[in-house]
Amino acid sequence: MRKAVVMRTRVAIVGAGPAGLLLSHLLSRQGIDSVVLEARSRAHVEQRVRAGVLEHPTVELLREAGLATRLDAQGLPHDGISLRFDGEDHRIDFAGLVGKGITVYGQQEVVKDLIGTRLAAGEPIEFEVSDVVLDGLTTDTPSVGYTAADGTRHVLECEAVAGCDGFHGVSRQAVPDLRIAEREYPFGWLGVLAKAAPTHDELVYASHDNGFALYSMRSPEITRLYLQVRPDADPQDWSDARIWDELGTRLAADGFTLNEGPFLERPSVTGMRSMVAEPMRHGRLFLAGDAAHIVPPTGAKGMNLAIADVRLLADSLGDLLLRTEATGVDTYSERALRRVWRAEHFSWWMTSMLHRFDDDHPDGDAFGRALQLSQLRYTVSSRAAATSLAENYVGLPHGAL
Ligand code: APR
Ligand code: PHB
Repeated sequence: MRKAVVMRTRVAIVGAGPAGLLLSHLLSRQGIDSVVLEARSRAHVEQRVRAGVLEHPTVELLREAGLATRLDAQGLPHDGISLRFDGEDHRIDFAGLVGKGITVYGQQEVVKDLIGTRLAAGEPIEFEVSDVVLDGLTTDTPSVGYTAADGTRHVLECEAVAGCDGFHGVSRQAVPDLRIAEREYPFGWLGVLAKAAPTHDELVYASHDNGFALYSMRSPEITRLYLQVRPDADPQDWSDARIWDELGTRLAADGFTLNEGPFLERPSVTGMRSMVAEPMRHGRLFLAGDAAHIVPPTGAKGMNLAIADVRLLADSLGDLLLRTEATGVDTYSERALRRVWRAEHFSWWMTSMLHRFDDDHPDGDAFGRALQLSQLRYTVSSRAAATSLAENYVGLPHGAL
C-alpha cells in the first residue's frame, strides 16, 4: 500500500454542513487555519433541502461574521407565526411580545453562502472523502486519516478535531462512555416544496384531527409545506392530488386559500426524534450540531443549535490555540448542553402539543387530546404563555442560560 500523504492544519473539521462550515469561517477570522472534510459532493451539500427558519441570534451572528449579504437581500423577516386550531388562526406576535423576529432563509442557502465565502478566501474544502478515521484524540496532537476523492490516502495532523458530521457521522462513536438520551415520535413529516406563491405572510402551525400540518415558504414564489404522516409512510402512496387535498383539509380556516403549484422535488418523509449525546467532548475531539443532538423539526431549532454550538466552540478553541487557556474547551460541553436542552424541551413541547397521537398511543386518549387543546388555548390567550413561546422561537440570546 502506498504511504499516506501527511498534511498539517490547526483544526480538522469533519463535515461541511452549517456547523463545520461556520466553524471554519469563525476560526479563520481569528487567524486559525482549518481543513474541512466532507463525505458528499459540493452539489449534494448545496442542494439538500432542510428547514428554513433563522433565529434572531443566528441572524445577528451571521451579520457580525460578514456572511449576511444574500441573507439580508433575500431573507424574509417575520414578526410572528400562527397557531391554527378549530379552523381559526391565533397569531403569536413575536415583535410585540419580545421585540424580535425570525428570518425565513433556507438552510441550503446558508450552506451555499458559507461554501462560497470559504472558497473565495482560498480556503479549500475536501469534498467526497471516505474512510475517515480519528486518532490520538487524548493527546495534544490528534490526527484524521481519510481517502480523498482521487483515491489517495491522507493523514491530517492537527491540534483539535471538530466532529461536525451530523447524525450519521463517525465522530460521535469516537467518544467513549457516551450517554445518549433519546425519544422517537410515532410520526414523520412529509415535506414538499411547491412552485406556488405563498398566500400568507407568516408560518402556520396547524393542529387538526387528521394530524399536524405546517405552512411555510422560501420566497415570494415558493411555498414549503409539511404533513404529519406515519413514520414508515411511503411517499409513493402520496400522490400530488392527495397531498394538496390533505393540506387543504388540515390548513382550512376562514379567509385562507392555499395556492397549489407543481412540486420542485419529489416529496420525502423524515422520521422525528429527539437525541442528546453527552459529553460533547473527548480529549481534543469536540462534537457540534447534529453529530451531538437531534431535535424534531417543530420549531426549526436544528440549524440554529448547530450554529450556537460552533460559536461557543470557535471562541473556546481560540482561547486554547492562541492563548493556551483551556477553561473554554473544558467547559464547552456543559455550556453548549444548556442551550441544547432548552431547545430539546421546546421542540418536544411544540411537537407534543401540535401532533395527533393515534388512539392506542398513551397520549392519544381523550385525556391526552383535551390536554393538547387546553395547552393550545392557554398559549394563545395568556400573554405570559405566548411570551414564553415567542422567546424560545426567536431564540434566547447566545450565552443566556
Ligand atoms: N466524513 C465526512 N463528512 C461526513 C461524514 C464522514 N464520515 N459523515 C457525515 N458527513 C457530512 C454529511 O455529508 C454532512 O454534509 O457531515 C455533514 C453534516 O452536516 P449536517 O447534517 O447538515 O449537520 P450540521 O452541520 O450539524 O447541521 C445541523 O443540519 O441535519 C440538519 O436540519 C439539521 O438543521 C440541522 C442542521
Ligand atoms: C421550513 O420552512 O422548512 C420549516 C419551518 C418551520 C419548521 C420546520 C421547517 O418548524
